Amino acid sequence: MNRKSVRTAVLISGSGTNLQAFIDQTRDGSLDLDLSVVLSNKPGAAGLQRAREAGIAVECVEHSKFPIREDFDAALIAALDQYDPELIILAGFMRILTSVFIDHFSGRIFNIHPSLLPKYPGLDTHQRAIDAGDDWHGSTVHFATEELDGGPRVIQGRVPVRESDTAETLAARVLAVEHQIYPQAAALYASGRLEYRDGRAWLDGDRLDEPLEFSGALIN
Ligand code: GAR
Repeated sequence: MNRKSVRTAVLISGSGTNLQAFIDQTRDGSLDLDLSVVLSNKPGAAGLQRAREAGIAVECVEHSKFPIREDFDAALIAALDQYDPELIILAGFMRILTSVFIDHFSGRIFNIHPSLLPKYPGLDTHQRAIDAGDDWHGSTVHFATEELDGGPRVIQGRVPVRESDTAETLAARVLAVEHQIYPQAAALYASGRLEYRDGRAWLDGDRLDEPLEFSGALIN
């Protein structure tokens, strides 16, 4: 009997190029996920159109209608639970989530953050890497916990910072790496090899103290 694909919700706020990577890789068969729903906190997010074009259900929960963060999180849960998701992918979802949301989907929420965490949690990561004179920058997939950009790291992809880089050119190079590492982390989770337990990430039963390094080759 065929294993059922993991029901997955993707949460976005903007252009959704990471979402597109998930759509493309599930379509071409290189990633086995059931993209059940795409949810945005902004009705105009371009990523919603990508979802519609791919025939994926869309939901919008506008944060501006909820003055209290916990109420927004409860509304997110209500919208998502209709699809009974097993995995939550935060893909450029620019809201801070409270324990209401984190506890509800405990251990099955991934975030991607455009820096080599623990460097540069928060905003403006590309400019901060340039300003600091870093040789390397990149992106990190991690399990989301209540600590902003602080949960156990799963995989990192690095890119060189060039002399001529602006925040925009660097961001574009980082995005290209994100489109590789994020589906890969999801694939490890969907296959049962990667899990979150006792506040840590585990791969093949071993504690993952350092994130996997993406070097252009897929992890088998
Ligand atoms: C990505 O670079 C992602 O790492 C970042 O937003 C971008 C979304 O791009 N996320 C954060 O900054 C979260 N703190 P996309 O909408 O094209 O996928």
